Amino acid sequence: MRKLVRMRSIELDGTARRLAACHDVADLRRVAKRRIPRPVFDYVDGAADEELAVRANVDAFRAWRFQPRVLTDVSSADTSSTILGAPVPVPLLLWPVGYTRGAARSAARHKLPYTLSTMAATGLEEVAGTVARLSGSTGGTEGSPPREQQPRDLWFQLYITKDRALAHDLVDRAAGNGYRVLVVTVDTVVTGNRIRDKRNGLSIPPELSLQTVLQVASRPGYWYRLLSGPALDFANFTGMPPTTIMGTGELFDPTITWDDIADLRSRWNGKLVIKGPVGVADARRAVDLGVDGIQLSNHGGRQLDRAVAPVDLIAPVRDAVGPSVSLLVDSGVRHGADVVTALALGADAAALGRAYVYGLMAGGEPGVDRALDLICEQIRRTMQLLGVASVSELRKGGRELLAKA
Ligand code: FNR
Repeated sequence: MRKLVRMRSIELDGTARRLAACHDVADLRRVAKRRIPRPVFDYVDGAADEELAVRANVDAFRAWRFQPRVLTDVSSADTSSTILGAPVPVPLLLWPVGYTRGAARSAARHKLPYTLSTMAATGLEEVAGTVARLSGSTGGTEGSPPREQQPRDLWFQLYITKDRALAHDLVDRAAGNGYRVLVVTVDTVVTGNRIRDKRNGLSIPPELSLQTVLQVASRPGYWYRLLSGPALDFANFTGMPPTTIMGTGELFDPTITWDDIADLRSRWNGKLVIKGPVGVADARRAVDLGVDGIQLSNHGGRQLDRAVAPVDLIAPVRDAVGPSVSLLVDSGVRHGADVVTALALGADAAALGRAYVYGLMAGGEPGVDRALDLICEQIRRTMQLLGVASVSELRKGGRELLAKA
């Protein structure tokens, strides 16, 4: 009997137990939904208007089927690659999702780039310091390079604010603190119409409305951690008054044009990426202005509902811009198989938004680790079952490895 039934060691830590029982992102989402007060869960999970795009994004990845190669010896499948010139163990990034903590540390541990949002709850100087310390501690003692040479890859996401001086200040601070890539989000000229947030009256910092008080009563542990931690606000704008999430729209500028991208190109010496549902003509225009990369994204359906699914833009945009421009994709990535599909279609890397935030909500920083570990393992296994032994083989095989469902 002993031989047949091996007793599992009993995990006493509740969070570790909960996370160990999650075997994919859908599991993490279910746990998050149970643990997190409804308005906060809805803020992450929800999207604009009728929430058609967010569902369509996920479905568009799943509309692809794999056509594997057989008998190819995939014993040493290698998932490593480069993103905008920097080496990564998997072609994966963590994408900005505003008010989050802990994800930068988890990304650094996984040696993946982390993009800090303009709207982050942690300031860009503080995140740079944390990542530098973590990167420094990854090396051995003897013979290891000095701290400055340890790998670290920080990206900063910029909203071009109405007050241009504010945006320029952010760009200068990002450069001064060693951020390598500047990502300009171009799909947020006005705020999306987030109906769940409106219904919930969500605000940052949380206001104790009657509804919130009821939520506190039902999830005391969550609110204790939130309220006893450092203040949750927009840390990159010191002195800015608390505002509702819907009210952040006052920052955004509907007058932005390609001239702003040209201006940023002349101010920023590092790599420049634009992020949005960029079609073929706009992609060509961006490249003409000296943009280094394009992040195909519809903001996870949180801006223009019914915007085209970014995965469907990969192939046409790749054909238009050629092989040298970096193409990244987000919106709807929930599984390693989605990342493999994106690469076969011509992307250089895929980015996670909600997928890791579900982990964060399910179990804090270890939850982000769990989400990343699961997705990395899914990428490796999918590549092996597809019969490709490296990312370059996967990209070379390209669309021949795919068929429409
Ligand atoms: C976002 N996203 C986002 N994008 C951005 O450029 N700046 C930001 O501050 C935020 N904030 C934000 C908050 C939350 C809670 C979410 C879920 C998303 C969009 C994000 O970068 C990414 O484009 C989407 O999350 C991708 O869609 P999925 O994969 O999350 O569905």
